[in-house]
Formats: sequence, structure tokens, C-alpha cells
Amino acid sequence: MRFFIDTANIDQILEAKDLGILDGVTTNPSLMAKEGISGEANVKAHYAKICKLVEGDVSAEVISTNFEGIVAEGVELSKIAPNIVVKVPMIKDGVKAIRYFADHDIKTNCTLIFSAGQAILAAKAGATYLSPFIGRLDDTSWDGMQLITDIAEIYAIQGYETEILAASIRNSLHIVEAAKAGADIVTCGLSAILGLLKHPLTDIGLAQFLADHAKANS
Ligand code: G3P
Repeated sequence: MRFFIDTANIDQILEAKDLGILDGVTTNPSLMAKEGISGEANVKAHYAKICKLVEGDVSAEVISTNFEGIVAEGVELSKIAPNIVVKVPMIKDGVKAIRYFADHDIKTNCTLIFSAGQAILAAKAGATYLSPFIGRLDDTSWDGMQLITDIAEIYAIQGYETEILAASIRNSLHIVEAAKAGADIVTCGLSAILGLLKHPLTDIGLAQFLADHAKANS
């Protein structure tokens, strides 16, 4: 399973990259706004900066909701760097645009996925990545991770090539469960990734090893 970081924050991207485990970046309009990035030129410049920092794919989301707008915006975004992936919402015109992008060799990430039916449609349209939102489903007392299991099963049976990018991942256990459920990629904030490091027995064990070593060498 590959690791993407779900942020537009340069420091967090650099920290994940420095750890040696970063395979790509996902963003959305809320994450861009959180970093205070606004205006077409600034947004494009910020994506260009991220694309230079990481070798893997970088998802840049469109704002348009009609076919012509999504296509025009996506084509412009795809010109920023070869590792840009156009992130498109799961709406009727979005599905149409995903087919257009697939036919023109532009990679896509179909976002805001909350059902297996939506996942089938995105794969049929030729999406490169599919983003089911686990945490937001959990928020509604629905089993988010079961959706990853269902989509992984359907994609395997049908031979769909669209990669499952588990999104709206809120904690480290989500990462472990997404791996078990068959996600190809997980995208989350830095804290969920760093949380994977933690276990109290590791800290206790290391302290003991170092204490024994110090005693034997004093
Ligand atoms: O990038 C989309 C997704 O990761 C959103 O996560 O935590 O806002 O539900 P969240």
C-alpha cells in the first residue's frame, strides 16, 4: 500500500518526504484554503511547488461543476507538471469529464465517493484513482471501512484498473484497516502517519536496552 499525504502544507509534505515513505500528495479546496492559498495564479504556483517537491502524483481538485468547465480547468491543471492528477467530484458532468480525461491521457482522481455504485461508475469512466471518504462515512454512523472492502472485492472480480485511494483517513488505525481492506493507497494527515510509530512497549523496551548497555559499559 502506498502512502499519500492529504495536505497542502509544505512543511508537512517535507516532513513526510524526509521520513522516506511519501508516495504522493492529495489536496482539496478546503486544504488549499486552510493554507491561505487563493487566486488562480497562486493556486497554480502552489501546485507547481508541491509537484517539484515530490516525485509521486499530486491531486489538484477542480472547482467547476459543469463538463466544459471541468475539462477546461483540468487541462490547465495538467499542464502544471507531469505528476498532476486532476481531482474530479462524483457528479454526472464529473463522470463525463473523467471519460474525456482518460481518452486524452490525463490522470484523474474521482473524489467524494460514498457508495460502491459510485465506485463502479468511476471505474467504468476510466478514473485513475478513486477516493472513498472513510472518516466522513464513520461520522454518519456508517461503516466507512466496509466500503473499501466492498470496492476492493468488486474491482478484483471485474478487473477494474482504477486504484483505491482510501481518503478521509482520521487516525493510524484507519491506515491499518485500509491496508487489510485492500486499499491500494491511503491518504491522510501527517499525525496519522506518525501515529504508526507509537507503541508503549517499544519505548519501554528501548529504555531498558539503553540502560543495560550503559550499565555494562560503565
Ligand atoms: O481529501 C479528502 C479527504 O481526505 C477529506 O478528509 O478529514 O476532511 O473528511 P476529511
